[in-house]
Amino acid sequence: MQINGTRSICAVILYVLALGRQALALELVATSQDSIKNAASTATYGMMTYYTGNETGGIPGAFPSKWWEGSALLLALLNYWHFTGDDYYNEELSIALQWQSGTNGDYMPSNYSSFLGNDDQMFWGLSAMTAVEYKLPDRPTGFSWLSLAQGVFNTQKARWDTTMCGGGLRWQIYVYEGSGYYMKNAVSNGGFFQLAARLYRYTGNEEYYTWAKKTWEWSCSVPLVDNSTWTVDDSTNGEQQCANGDQVRWTYNYGVYFGGCAYLYAATNDEYWLNCTTGLLNSLWSTFFTEKNNYIISDWECETREICNNNEVLFKGLVASWLAQTALLIPSLYDEILSKLQASGQGAANSCTGNSNSTCGVRWTTGTWDGLQGMEQQISASNAFSVQMLPWINGTEYGPPVTSKTGGNSSSNVNAGENEDAGSGQTTKPVTTGDKAGAGILTIIFVGGLVGMATFMFLGA
Ligand SMILES: *[C@@H]1O[C@H](CO)[C@@H](O)[C@H](O)[C@H]1NC(C)=O
Ligand SMILES: *[C@@H]1O[C@H](CO)[C@@H](O)[C@H](O)[C@H]1NC(C)=O
Ligand SMILES: *[C@@H]1O[C@H](CO)[C@@H](O)[C@H](O)[C@H]1NC(C)=O
Ligand SMILES: *[C@@H]1O[C@H](CO)[C@@H](O)[C@H](O)[C@H]1NC(C)=O
Ligand SMILES: *[C@@H]1O[C@H](CO)[C@@H](O)[C@H](O)[C@H]1NC(C)=O
Ligand SMILES: *[C@@H]1O[C@H](CO)[C@@H](O)[C@H](O)[C@H]1NC(C)=O
Ligand SMILES: *[C@@H]1O[C@H](CO)[C@@H](O)[C@H](O)[C@H]1NC(C)=O
Repeated sequence: MQINGTRSICAVILYVLALGRQALALELVATSQDSIKNAASTATYGMMTYYTGNETGGIPGAFPSKWWEGSALLLALLNYWHFTGDDYYNEELSIALQWQSGTNGDYMPSNYSSFLGNDDQMFWGLSAMTAVEYKLPDRPTGFSWLSLAQGVFNTQKARWDTTMCGGGLRWQIYVYEGSGYYMKNAVSNGGFFQLAARLYRYTGNEEYYTWAKKTWEWSCSVPLVDNSTWTVDDSTNGEQQCANGDQVRWTYNYGVYFGGCAYLYAATNDEYWLNCTTGLLNSLWSTFFTEKNNYIISDWECETREICNNNEVLFKGLVASWLAQTALLIPSLYDEILSKLQASGQGAANSCTGNSNSTCGVRWTTGTWDGLQGMEQQISASNAFSVQMLPWINGTEYGPPVTSKTGGNSSSNVNAGENEDAGSGQTTKPVTTGDKAGAGILTIIFVGGLVGMATFMFLGA
């Protein structure tokens, strides 16, 4: 057979290039533990290249301009350990989770506390609660993980505000933080709900149930959660008595609430809490895991126009973590959750083909790297890959988050954090603390939103 020499050489070169490209792709085979562990390890290693808290001169857990993101990174390390069994980063993780706890043991460290929102503090509380439920040993000195979660709960409970909309937490804590002080938002309230729900399941203390139920019912009484259509709005304006929601959709707002419902159902077996879990999950699927995207999760509010900020890139990873916990807590939801996590994990793996070193992108729906790299991309991918180990940990002693009756031994302190300033009376910015404006979550989006709205109104006029 005659073949054209030049063409065959080209074909060979193309074939070799194609092999080369394949080698760069991050392989994720749902049925192979080795492939999952390798993908999780690779994404987590990439994530830790952004972390300097363990280096000489570094401050453990500190990301001064984006303080809450430290808790997201530590949550990814907790998931990495729990799901894959690799404890390589545990000491580093444990040191950092303790370091940022602040002198009162409630995640209001003075370097950042003057500029935080309730959501920023809450995310650290949820990471401490995850440490409790995954049995990360308490440190020999300092605060126990459980007392830190309790400290966050007690501080936030004291900030419950009945002057606007009959209850709920404000987004920002202090008057001087500006318009966010007059907003009530889903992630602050849903996060507090989930923290209370998890504390209730773990300790059995009724006070946590009372607060979880009260926060849920209040959230349904304002436009944040619609308990008939199961949509969740991002925020609502307290100065207008929460008359309108903003109809902005983010995966993590659904996530904080379905996670809380799932923990409450696991704790009570009350069908009411199963109904809100399934209601919110079905809404999550139809809103963010669409057929058009091959059922891969997408925070399309920012992804379609490629305008996601650091906070927004983290949402999908947080949701993967809460989905996996829900699958472990409620066996009847396991199959449907696993299939969604597998499709999204595959999407994430396809995005981790950047820079010839498995750098991950923001969008998981495009089948390839989108050219964007950062710590947040690595954190979300790390979560997405770790949870692929669900089939191997379900039904084992490393499966569902533990409680104080099923092996958890972190020390309790029901009064933790009660010395903390509740915030509402404080109107002036303290001058003694370093100015860490920007430490808080979503401030920029919010301001951007207002400017956008003002521009829109101006153009419309
Ligand atoms: C991958 O390569 C990029 C570009 O050179 C670099 O910024 C990044 O740190 C590398 N990541 C890892 C995990 O080596
Ligand atoms: C740094 O991280 C390694 C690996 O996680 C850990 O073994 C070590 O104790 C850490 N060192 C410090 C000083 O935190
Ligand atoms: C607060 O800042 C000081 C000075 O940079 C640093 O030594 C300390 O570790 C920081 N604390 C936290 C919790 O980040
Ligand atoms: C609590 O459990 C952890 C993990 O199983 C273990 O390492 C630790 O020693 C236990 N602590 C106490 C006080 O029993
Ligand atoms: C839905 O929320 C409304 C407003 O809080 C409440 O009156 C109603 O009982 C709730 N329905 C369910 C099923 O929870
Ligand atoms: C849960 O939903 C089912 C189906 O819609 C309904 O029949 C049942 O009454 C609900 N249970 C509770 C406790 O609300
Ligand atoms: C997951 O584990 C639970 C027990 O914790 C079991 O009831 C359930 O059948 C398991 N699911 C699968 C798909 O193996």
